[in-house]
Amino acid sequence: MQSKKLKNLITIFFVLFIFSSCTKDLIVTDPPVVIAPPSPNENKISFSGEIQPIFSAKCTMCHGTGQNSPTLVAGKSYQSLMSMQGMIDTVTPGNSILYKQMATGGGMSQYCNKANADSTYKWIRQGAKNN
Ligand code: HEC
Repeated sequence: MQSKKLKNLITIFFVLFIFSSCTKDLIVTDPPVVIAPPSPNENKISFSGEIQPIFSAKCTMCHGTGQNSPTLVAGKSYQSLMSMQGMIDTVTPGNSILYKQMATGGGMSQYCNKANADSTYKWIRQGAKNN
């Protein structure tokens, strides 16, 4: 009886040892970035109807033709944004430079508001169409 208890105890320790030694070798990866898929009911953002007006009202005084890139003037902005590496990332919208600049803490956030940044995010997530 006594030796059976001891055996059990040794087994438990052995199992614990195996598991504890395993954890050391586990490769801890970064948690996956969870991108919420757009809801089918999400309001569709139109570039010409909602995004360009933000640019025209709040950005073109500095991002006019021949000024700072990207050019955000109506008729030129879409092409300008799409031609710049990393500016629009439809796979991971939050990585888009345009969005990061406009979002809270971004360099351009002082010139727009959170609603503007959110609309831009949605537009990118919906495929950044020239719509
Ligand atoms: C007062 C002038 C000014 C206004 C207004 C302004 N910007 Fe900018 N923007 C700049 C300057 C200067 C730069 C380049 C230097 C820097 O990154 O700070 C820049 C850079 C950027 C960049 C980054 C370009 C790159 O190559 O990484 C983006 C995107 C951008 N602006 C978007 C916007 C948007 C969108 C608005 C309007 C909501 C806006 N800007 C309003 C002056 C301005």
